[in-house]
Amino acid sequence: MKEDWMHLARERDKDDSLTGMGERFEHPPGPDGRRAAYLTGHSLGLLPRTARDLVAEEFADWAQYAVEGHTRARRPWVSYHEQLTPLIARVVGAQEDEVVVMNSLTANLHLMMVSFYRPTAQRHAIVIEKGAFPSDRYAVVSQLEYHGYKAGDVLIEIEPREGESCVREEDVEAVLAREGERVALVLWPGVQYLSGKAFDLARIARAGHTAGAMVGFDLAHAVGNIALDLHGTGVDFAVWCSYKYLNGGPGAPGGCFVHERHARDFRGPRFTGWWGHDKAARFAMEPDFVPIPTAEAWQLSNPPILALAPLLASLRVFGDVGISALRERSERLTGTLYDALAVELGEAVDILTPEEPQARGCQLSIRVKRPRDQARAVFDELMAKGIIVDWREPGIIRLAPVPLYNTHVDCARAVEGLREALYDVGT
Ligand SMILES: Cc1ncc(COP(=O)(O)O)c(C=O)c1O
Repeated sequence: MKEDWMHLARERDKDDSLTGMGERFEHPPGPDGRRAAYLTGHSLGLLPRTARDLVAEEFADWAQYAVEGHTRARRPWVSYHEQLTPLIARVVGAQEDEVVVMNSLTANLHLMMVSFYRPTAQRHAIVIEKGAFPSDRYAVVSQLEYHGYKAGDVLIEIEPREGESCVREEDVEAVLAREGERVALVLWPGVQYLSGKAFDLARIARAGHTAGAMVGFDLAHAVGNIALDLHGTGVDFAVWCSYKYLNGGPGAPGGCFVHERHARDFRGPRFTGWWGHDKAARFAMEPDFVPIPTAEAWQLSNPPILALAPLLASLRVFGDVGISALRERSERLTGTLYDALAVELGEAVDILTPEEPQARGCQLSIRVKRPRDQARAVFDELMAKGIIVDWREPGIIRLAPVPLYNTHVDCARAVEGLREALYDVGT
């Protein structure tokens, strides 16, 4: 090792006032029984300790009140989701009337495309990134087909330049300047799931709007990870899931942003359900739909209380710490990981994620270049050492030090483990 990263990491953890935050989460053990270095919050966040209590309280209220829990539970079920609204609004940089916690990411994406993909004879193309997360592409293609188009004719996919891992913002602008007249919708990620690149979202929204298109964001890897200002970007809609950086638990309800200029008075097509209907008149059981004048108008069904409780627990932690303090710590952690990887292992691994902190979240994606055919063995060895990372085809290892619960020592353990694994497979 060129530097004593473990010593440096201990010093940095000591100096960091947020190091103790990790105690508010339950950390899985590694194979040797000691606490794993869990670097996979980009896939599934850890369990917030208070989630157990909040779920247990719902069981208790269900047992005690049964149907009357809708109004008599300590957190009445009929309005339960509203407690999450101010918390999530702060996380995504939105007004409270612009956000709603509901459904899952792909379901919300479909609901949003029903409202915001409105093709005409001249303008019907959708712009996405080549290599978009498959569920997004499936959803987009099915919407195109639903409107009678073929993906081959109207799906525009933008890819990174030859030899690069990430699409550049200027290339999105260039495509929209060239093809904009036929584009109805731009769907873009906040943070790209494979490379970890964080996009300049204001710039993407501006480019789409200048071309005359609607713009939506998939924030699966951005929410709870980078500082967002959705309202300020002017984007038309955004969707996200809550099981990654938001720590809502496996399959946790996702969320949706609709800019206030649409949320308050929307005249376009919308798939509706009773939970989007005017709250004051919901139980009048009238046949005609009267939308809530907020993003809640897109809700279909009454909320899943047991699934929302862990998310409420986690969002309270975000509320306590604040996203900007988290982001500052995130830059310190990922900066340490980046430097250690580059200095110690630059010969053997490529870092695919941009080096500039503003162009990435906490995740770094690496590819073993030497020996390339042993990349999977390197990953397996890391896992066996209790360094929990993940593997994504084609041959990419993703590591994400999450500022809520990871430490600089976790980063140092990952680099040390990777160095040993590379040595063992023969570098
Ligand atoms: C970028 C991205 N989009 C979409 C999804 C699909 O999410 P869901 O299964 O919640 O619909 C995921 C899931 O990991 C994702 O990472």
